[in-house]
Amino acid sequence: MEIKKVGVVGCGLMGSGIAQVAATAGYETVVREINDELLQKGLARIDQSLSKFVQKGKLTPEQKQEIQGRLRGTTELDAFADCDIVIEAIIENLQEKVKTYTQLDEICSPEAIFASNTSSLSITEMMASTKPARQPRFVGLHFFNPVPLMKLVEVVRTILTDQAVFETVTDFARRLGKVPVQTSDRTGFIVNRLLVPYLLDAIRALEEGVGSIVDIDNGMKLGCGHPMGPFTLLDFVGLDTTYYIANIMFDEFKEKRFAPPPLLKRMVLAGLYGRKTGKGFYDYSDPENPKPMELV
Ligand code: CAA
Repeated sequence: MEIKKVGVVGCGLMGSGIAQVAATAGYETVVREINDELLQKGLARIDQSLSKFVQKGKLTPEQKQEIQGRLRGTTELDAFADCDIVIEAIIENLQEKVKTYTQLDEICSPEAIFASNTSSLSITEMMASTKPARQPRFVGLHFFNPVPLMKLVEVVRTILTDQAVFETVTDFARRLGKVPVQTSDRTGFIVNRLLVPYLLDAIRALEEGVGSIVDIDNGMKLGCGHPMGPFTLLDFVGLDTTYYIANIMFDEFKEKRFAPPPLLKRMVLAGLYGRKTGKGFYDYSDPENPKPMELV
């Protein structure tokens, strides 16, 4: 089973990163967005990221051109007809994903592998929306933000995933220059199962007056060697995203450690999503010098 052509559904933050690393690894890659405006935005993000690697001497301008030559943007799902693997990285909405998989199931060859980049939805539930012949060829492939820099990929199997498919996809992740870890389809997989309670606990510590935003961040950065403290990371991931994931995990496990604290809910309701809206635990009005918010 050889993967030659890669399809990526969605050219947002994650999809554009995935398409970029696939084309960089030498795969012919097609990436699809729902309209031309979003597609151009995603392709521009890839261009910027590749330019950064050229600036840093990690790629030559010729290599950048070759990578972009292997990458094709489209607004048509039909463009995935001859892809060996299709990685879906669209909005975290089960209905939308199921709709996309139902269409892809008709368009793609019976051998094509389907992979979802979901961080919290059930791979098994998406798999169940495809035809029985596709189901052993359905996996999760969970990348981390920023995809071009983060080394990890979680490779997720369902109880129906074929072992040879699982190994092919694990090897594919390696060929993308990533370090794959294999896991099973339990909400949150490995990383979010550990990361989400940690992030929620940091918010609870703030609520309880254990320390300030900056002191808790410095505690974990300087005391544990994390590249970002929990509040900087929450703002980076997005408070809306974290709240959404926490709710799904709480729903699945009914354990308090996954329950979103009241402050997180209030911040999401108030539109304080983090970097993407300019304010979260920090105010990014001056991006070079974020200021902690007065929240409690
Ligand atoms: N492409 C190319 N270059 C990029 C880039 C991209 N997409 N993003 C950042 N860079 C560059 C920056 O421009 C910067 O370049 P300069 O050195 O020239 O300034 C360089 O990479 C390093 O970036 P920073 O200066 O911001 O410094 P950093 O050393 O802190 O690295 C980081 C950034 C890799 C993001 C690091 O802070 C980090 O590892 N943070 C933790 C990220 C993390 O935990 N991500 C996972 C989130 S959870 C998730 O994604 C899954 C989920 O389900 C929620």
